[in-house]
Amino acid sequence: MEHIAIAIDGPAGSGKSTAAREVARKLGITYLDTGAMYRSVALKALKNGIDPRDSASVTALLPDTDLRIRIEDGVQHFILDGEDVTGQIRTPEVSRGASDVGVNPAVRLFLVAMQREIAKGQDVVMDGRDIGTYVLPDAPFKFFLTADSKTRALRRYNELLEKGTDKTFEAVHEELLARDANDSGREFAPLRAADDAVLIDTTDLTAGETVELILNTVQAGKK
Ligand code: DC
Repeated sequence: MEHIAIAIDGPAGSGKSTAAREVARKLGITYLDTGAMYRSVALKALKNGIDPRDSASVTALLPDTDLRIRIEDGVQHFILDGEDVTGQIRTPEVSRGASDVGVNPAVRLFLVAMQREIAKGQDVVMDGRDIGTYVLPDAPFKFFLTADSKTRALRRYNELLEKGTDKTFEAVHEELLARDANDSGREFAPLRAADDAVLIDTTDLTAGETVELILNTVQAGKK
């Protein structure tokens, strides 16, 4: 039996992870945060003293990289070489590193193979940058979330403030713009809306409203 896949792509701070997690919860299906996979590879590079932009050295790490995803009480845990790194992959340094390792086709092919395997075995909501265009081009439901860059930066800034940060809003905004440019500008599977994706601008939407829009579209399109 074919499994259902819902692809949710968009730039940082567009609200895709929050929406994807909630849509999956409401539908009772698996949520896969593909950004966390790129973050895990970046963390491994950083832990090994490797610059995430150094493609050859990062590629050399892949054969002994064991990345597993464990769901505990509905929460995804990323296990890198036996260590739970879920908490360690949310720093600004890892965000930038994830964008840098994402330029490397070898990293992408390594992670995309895992993502496709997961989607083959079950119904999924997957969020990322290239899910609708490259990972699951035949997904029956595709969404591309956007929002004004200052709104996106403010969402990120508020998250960082909760954890305690000395970064200014301006610095967070600059970093987000740099990451957008890096993700959209790469050659292999760049950040881009699929031609058949439903575009949602979340600038003036609450998380709940975004979820509702997605669920309504999915319900309306179900055969
Ligand atoms: O969604 P996120 O902010 O956790 O993603 C971190 C970085 O990982 C993002 O800037 C680019 C990369 N990424 C990617 O290249 N492709 C994906 N499908 C998901 C993330």
